[in-house]
Amino acid sequence: MFNIILHQPEIPPNTGNIIRLCANTGFQLHLVKPLGFPLQDKQLLRAGLDYHEFARIKVHDSWMACSQSLQGHRIFAVTTKGKQCYDTVQYVTGDAFLFGAESCGLPSHLLNTFPELRRIRIPMVATSRSLNLSNAVAIIAYEAWRQAGFPSGQ
Ligand SMILES: C[S@@+](CC[C@H](N)C(=O)[O-])C[C@H]1O[C@@H](n2cnc3c(N)ncnc32)[C@H](O)[C@@H]1O
Repeated sequence: MFNIILHQPEIPPNTGNIIRLCANTGFQLHLVKPLGFPLQDKQLLRAGLDYHEFARIKVHDSWMACSQSLQGHRIFAVTTKGKQCYDTVQYVTGDAFLFGAESCGLPSHLLNTFPELRRIRIPMVATSRSLNLSNAVAIIAYEAWRQAGFPSGQ
């Protein structure tokens, strides 16, 4: 199983899409507080999520608590400031992918703790600033899952 981590997500429909993506791929979703919405938010529920999809979420009080719970796993920061293109890395089951908040991305004090090879980016044309969070998660998740041979997928 791979892990997706959302650091302080702000927009309920993005998190709703990502909850569904994790349910569809068998990934574990980690949410790092503070969240910009309650987990019972109407817009999350409107995404038509089932109980079993919510059951896959782990909520952590802080980044420290989240990273401790993933000890022994490789964590990649997914960032527009990465130098390593996401498709050049060989992922292994258990890897975790950390994404920043919609408005501000990952804070630099956190990003600076990642070596360059653990900061990955998704290419964009030069005039673009960033992708939508849930689109970025989908691109990374499917690349990692593809490399693993889509375990449990059909
Ligand atoms: C809407 S973006 C945040 C925008 C923020 N101004 C920034 O520059 O990081 C939300 C998150 O999606 C991910 N993301 C979006 N586009 C990306 C890209 N081209 N490469 C890597 N990560 C990306 C990152 O994790 C980012 O923190």
